[in-house]
Amino acid sequence: MYPSVPAANTLAGKVILVTGAAGNIGGAIAAHCLSAGARVVMTGRDPARLAAARDGLLAATGAAPEAAVPAILEGGDPDSVRAAVARALDACGRLDVLVNNAGSAGPRQPLAAVPFDAAELGALRAAGATDTETAGAAARSLLGVAWNVVRAAAPSLQPGASVIHVSTIFSRTPYYGRAAYTVPKAALNAFSALLARELGPRGIRVNTVYPGPIESERIHAVFAAMDALRGGAAGTTAAHFLGTMSLARAGEGESPRPRYPQVADVVAAVAFLASDASAALNGQGLEVTHGMAVPDASPAVLLAPPELTGDALAGQRVLVAGGTPVADAVAMAQAVARSGARVLLGLPDAAAVSMAAQLLAGLPGADQIAPLRVDRRRPATIASALAGSPLSAAVLLPAGVRGTSRGLATATDADVAALLDDELVGAMALARELSRHWQSRPPAGGTPRVVFLGGGDGEADAFAPLRDAGVAQLIRVWREEAATPREGDPLPLQAHLLLRSGAGGPADLDLAARHVVALLGTGQAIEQIALAL
Ligand SMILES: NC(=O)c1ccc[n+]([C@@H]2O[C@H](COP(=O)([O-])OP(=O)(O)OC[C@H]3O[C@@H](n4cnc5c(N)ncnc54)[C@H](OP(=O)(O)O)[C@@H]3O)[C@@H](O)[C@H]2O)c1
Repeated sequence: MYPSVPAANTLAGKVILVTGAAGNIGGAIAAHCLSAGARVVMTGRDPARLAAARDGLLAATGAAPEAAVPAILEGGDPDSVRAAVARALDACGRLDVLVNNAGSAGPRQPLAAVPFDAAELGALRAAGATDTETAGAAARSLLGVAWNVVRAAAPSLQPGASVIHVSTIFSRTPYYGRAAYTVPKAALNAFSALLARELGPRGIRVNTVYPGPIESERIHAVFAAMDALRGGAAGTTAAHFLGTMSLARAGEGESPRPRYPQVADVVAAVAFLASDASAALNGQGLEVTHGMAVPDASPAVLLAPPELTGDALAGQRVLVAGGTPVADAVAMAQAVARSGARVLLGLPDAAAVSMAAQLLAGLPGADQIAPLRVDRRRPATIASALAGSPLSAAVLLPAGVRGTSRGLATATDADVAALLDDELVGAMALARELSRHWQSRPPAGGTPRVVFLGGGDGEADAFAPLRDAGVAQLIRVWREEAATPREGDPLPLQAHLLLRSGAGGPADLDLAARHVVALLGTGQAIEQIALAL
């Protein structure tokens, strides 16, 4: 006979943890879960705000007080998250569903103005900005919070459990002035996809919801701020995104028209993924966007190794910023110098700088390479390295934070902090200093060129996909900002993420270096952001 299909609208008996449950969408998710029969652990940072939200939910749903368990959780602090999860397990005995909904707005500034420390944030606020977070804090409040919850809760999740990440469609589109928000969200998308593969064999499924612009005061304020930042007429941003939606939708008594999806639409997608009706879905993304068109993110594959001449980069001055291993950065610097460029070889600390000097000693072309300190955790060191040397291009290697075969759910606090600070925030710090540099010193040829190096050695490095997704989004936003004319005119930019094959070793790096030189040396414009070897 016909199979019985689990209802998408019942969550009876489930224990569901919702982060950011005192917020707009989180509150609506919690309310629905309570109404659908679940027990809900509501997290929030502020006890009074959380208590008020809980009172409101109990009044609105008529749920029993013990059905809504409050838990204070500061997502960027792993100890706070562990304590909240322990409290939830203590109170409820188990967790069946994690809804990683919490997420802050991050600094709303073009890359050149993104704040990285308290002093820079203070200066922005003194000048009238309403931002409340640095880029590092935002990364913790967007990716850190979800990762910390997963690490704390994963050991106690049982087969049949569901983990849901609330991302944003804008982590996959250009989004002017919002790199600090969308870069960690893009890394969250990769985190969610990888985690699905990691936890799937234990019977735990992991999926992502991509809300589009959701009808709320927040989105109207965000789009108005974006119009102002980019010097566009009021309504430009809204009109652009409404124009990318394939679905017109009727309101009550109205004909269909382009409009934003509602909070209830996001709740419905989350509820489906929480319910047993979605028991066969793993590693999927549900786009709650009215069918917004999103750019294709698949990489262009670069096939033949380019033929290079010794003067492909003659007259250029190029930053090669490296991390660990130092030898990779030295090899890349040598390849760039062999093609005629003078190279600033930026390395994170004095020890790495002196190691590079030793590796270079006596080698041909070493006199064209100047090793110096470029610490992506301290943007001032990048600024002082770039001062006095007008650059035409930059090659940015990963900082070198590697995930181990242990995976994402078992990463340590130090692993998470390093991935956030060195790879994601560090890449934004490099981009900020380069965009400031090129705003004041446009390169002679007109278009600055940037190649980020990504990829790596596949299965052995569980963090590379997070870093690469974040960097690809950084490039998406940076390109858009550079192409948007306004006062002070940032320049157009050629920027790519070059993905190493995954074979590892010197031959792999040599091939990447040949492609880097070709990308920096030719006037060829390639539309795709990611280029795979
Ligand atoms: N609104 C939209 O148009 C839209 C579009 C796409 C995606 N989204 C995503 O949807 C989710 C909910 O957004 P919303 O519109 O409901 O915003 P919201 O009302 O501002 O709620 C955000 C929630 O995140 C929590 N949060 C922020 N940083 C945190 C941290 N470090 N630790 C713990 N909790 C933290 C806040 O907790 P407190 O209550 O403690 O402040 C707040 O409850 C976010 O992930 C957002 O990115 C929203």
